[in-house]
Amino acid sequence: MAEFIERLEELAASATAAFDAAGDTAELESARVEYLGAKKGRLKAVQKQIGQVGVQERPAAGKQLNEVKRRIEGAFAAAQERLDGGGAAAPASAARQFDPTLPGQALRWGHLHPITQTIEELKGIMGRLGFSVAEGPEIEDEWHNFEALNIPLEHPARDPLDNFYLPVVGADGGALLLRSQTSTVQIRVMENTPPPVRVISLGRVYRPDTPDATHYPMFYQMEGLLVDTHVTMADLKSMLRMFVVSYLGSDVHIRFRPSFFPFTEPSVEADFSWNDQWIEFGGAGMVDPNVLEAVGYDPEQVTGFAFGLGIERLCMRRHDIADIRDLFKNDVRFLHQF
Ligand code: PHE
Repeated sequence: MAEFIERLEELAASATAAFDAAGDTAELESARVEYLGAKKGRLKAVQKQIGQVGVQERPAAGKQLNEVKRRIEGAFAAAQERLDGGGAAAPASAARQFDPTLPGQALRWGHLHPITQTIEELKGIMGRLGFSVAEGPEIEDEWHNFEALNIPLEHPARDPLDNFYLPVVGADGGALLLRSQTSTVQIRVMENTPPPVRVISLGRVYRPDTPDATHYPMFYQMEGLLVDTHVTMADLKSMLRMFVVSYLGSDVHIRFRPSFFPFTEPSVEADFSWNDQWIEFGGAGMVDPNVLEAVGYDPEQVTGFAFGLGIERLCMRRHDIADIRDLFKNDVRFLHQF
């Protein structure tokens, strides 16, 4: 019995080695005939020797024989698969079905969202006017969103119904809110940089407005701030005009209307013409001395102007988009056009 099993194991080992060594299907076929051949195969030869095993042990020997046979057949199947998979002599079925002359499947190209494209272009224009880009957080404290901007506690702009206050407080225990304007970044920049400054900041702001064709509770602003000696309103107006003409073309008309913001004095609102109408695209003005003082600047030494423009409005006029909501539905059939 032990001798029989030893012979079986030897056979299994050499059969497996022969199948593994086969370099093509012809070699594998001759190895198959040698080991698994129905008449003269070596497995058959060992099988015949089962008669030499004692009658008592024969069932166990038969079981062992079947097990080894399955193993050898498994090794053969594995070798077959290996040669089918990549062998030059037997091209794989997948390779046979691949027709390199058929046209490929076109990939659908994505591109930047129109708002992102607008932001990049605005940065380019303002960069050429000497402005660098500053960033600020979208979750703000009341100091940066209101107080330092000369917006006192009793001011209606601080009404909880007009802001997205968060249900958590800041590290100092003060209230936190989603910023309602990018003017927060003016404060953050001036707190950290001595004059002169010349920065823009582009990002999202949040106000609980009901969405319609021209309003959305989240939108983008481009804030601008220039502080230096001898900065005047004339600088602000000519810079804004230059900016708008660069982005919308020289045939655009703009106008400035007197307005009020707590953090600028005097203040204006700026409109551009669109389909025979005036559309407001932002607010601006000369930085209020109280704001300069709040950040530690000397209003006797420096003056500055600031502006906050609606990025969607600019993008919509440029691309003739009638409804701001289309920009945020993210229907690719719409976005694909830009
Ligand atoms: N922060 C103002 C707004 O959101 C716009 C503004 C910015 C006005 C800077 C003046 C100066 O309406």
